[in-house]
Parts: sequence; structure tokens; C-alpha cells
Amino acid sequence: MKIIQISDFHLRGDGKLSFQKADTKQALDQTVEFFCNLKSYDLPEYFVVTGDLAEGGMKEGYELLRQGLDQLPRPYYIVPGNHDKRDFFLEMFPEHAPVKEDIKPYICYTLDDGSIRSIIIDTCREGCHYGGLTDKVAEWLEGKIIEYPNKPTLVFTHHPPFITGLPAMDEEFAQADRLMEILKKHKNVRLCCGHMHTGMFTSWKGIPCVTCPSIAMQMEVDFRGKNSPDVTEVEAMDNFKGGGDRFFLGNPGYLIHDLQGNQINTHSMLIPTGASYSGPWPFKYYEGEED
Ligand SMILES: [Fe+2]
Ligand SMILES: [Fe+2]
Repeated sequence: MKIIQISDFHLRGDGKLSFQKADTKQALDQTVEFFCNLKSYDLPEYFVVTGDLAEGGMKEGYELLRQGLDQLPRPYYIVPGNHDKRDFFLEMFPEHAPVKEDIKPYICYTLDDGSIRSIIIDTCREGCHYGGLTDKVAEWLEGKIIEYPNKPTLVFTHHPPFITGLPAMDEEFAQADRLMEILKKHKNVRLCCGHMHTGMFTSWKGIPCVTCPSIAMQMEVDFRGKNSPDVTEVEAMDNFKGGGDRFFLGNPGYLIHDLQGNQINTHSMLIPTGASYSGPWPFKYYEGEED
């Protein structure tokens, strides 16, 4: 069984470039076309989209995204990111976010058919860039994780709870220790996150974790802190926040989670779109420049 994880479209619904540089609509179209051309034996059971679907959480962005993703040759399921709006998910993607009443408005649900179990959890905090678990989501997950303690399981979130080494992305994650304790109750689990716009593989207190590259903007992997002596004058004048706050226009990336026996392998993949690899550009809008 295979599951394909895609992430961080940051789609704008008004035809403008995201962060004044990224043609996110083109990235969506190229991605959908690529997956539509996959051989049938390469197709996954389903896709999981780990958040930051529409830039600024605009309804027009979700409409465009839905038009694109609806063409995918397999079902898709969505996870909310810090740029998203829960209301739109529940209203516009009911079959792609099958959330039960007891956990609403949080976008949490499980996909239990198939030899891999997927658990989708909502780590978003209203108006915040960083993530975490609320008590309600933590209690829900505590109940779910023990249902099938031995079945290979993927837990999908937008925010990673672990230190990434990219200073601008290393913010608080509320109740990270509680999440770790919950995941440790499972014998065969992997945490699969978005948000980082780059592929990372780590072991967080013994729990295997991965992050997915972005479809639209690849993170510049830069470990310098805000006050590093290596920050240039030009960067300081541009309000450099530390590494992890700039992207380049690389080819879209995605992950394949593939079950072999009882073992889940994760493959990091690229979609060859002939991207320019220009950048790095900051994740911000400059006043005075056309947005
Ligand atoms: Fe993002
Ligand atoms: Fe994000």
C-alpha cells in the first residue's frame, strides 16, 4: 500500500504571485498533470495534503485548489495549516476532511481502511504561525492511538513538534511532550508533517518523523541564527529573521509512504518541472512592489 503526501501549495485565488515571486497556480497545474500521468501501478491508495493550501485562507484560493485536486486519479484528504481556515475546510471539503461531530471544529479524523492507518490531527492555533495540541485534540488522539496499537500508522500534522535547526521555524509547539507521550504508546508509528517546505528525516525521542517538501516554494536550508556573525549587512537591513524564512523556486517535491511487510518506507521525490531555482526570496510581501 502506498500513500502520497503533498504539501504547502500556498495558492492564491486572484492570479497573483505568492510572496510576489511564486506562481502557485502553475505549480498546482503541473503537479496535477504529473500525478494524472503516473502509471496505474505507481498510483497510491490516496493522497494526503499536509496544509497551507491557500495563501491567506482565501475562499477563491480553495476553489481553485479544489478544481485542481479533484482531477487527481485517487482520493485526497486534507490537513489544515497555519495559512488555512477551518470553516472553509468543513464547508468546501466535506468528503476530503471527514471530521466527526465530537471533535469539530478541529480537523481531526482517521482513515482506517487499508493496511496502513492514517490519523490526521489539527495542530493549528488561531492567528498563529506556530502550532500545538489543544486539550481536546490531545484527548481525541489519546483515544485513537490505542485502537490499533500494532497496525502500521502514519500521523499527519502540519506543524512539526521537534527542533528543526532552522531558527525562524523553531517556534513553540504547545504540548509537544504530551504529543510525544501519546505517540510512544504506539508500536509502529511515523509522524508526517508539512510546514517546513523541505524534506527532513529525524528521530524525535525515538519516534520516526518526516517533513514534506512544498509543491510551490522550496525552503532555503540555512542554519544561521538571526544574530549570527555570518549575516550580511544587506540581510540585516532586510530584517533577516534567521534561517528558515526564505524559499527558492525549485521543482515541487512530495513523499511516497510505502508499506513493505510491516515496515513503512518513505521516499522523497521531485516533480521535474524545469523550475528556475531562483532565490532565495523571503516569505514576505514588500510594500511598494506589486502584490
Ligand atoms: Fe507553508
Ligand atoms: Fe505552515
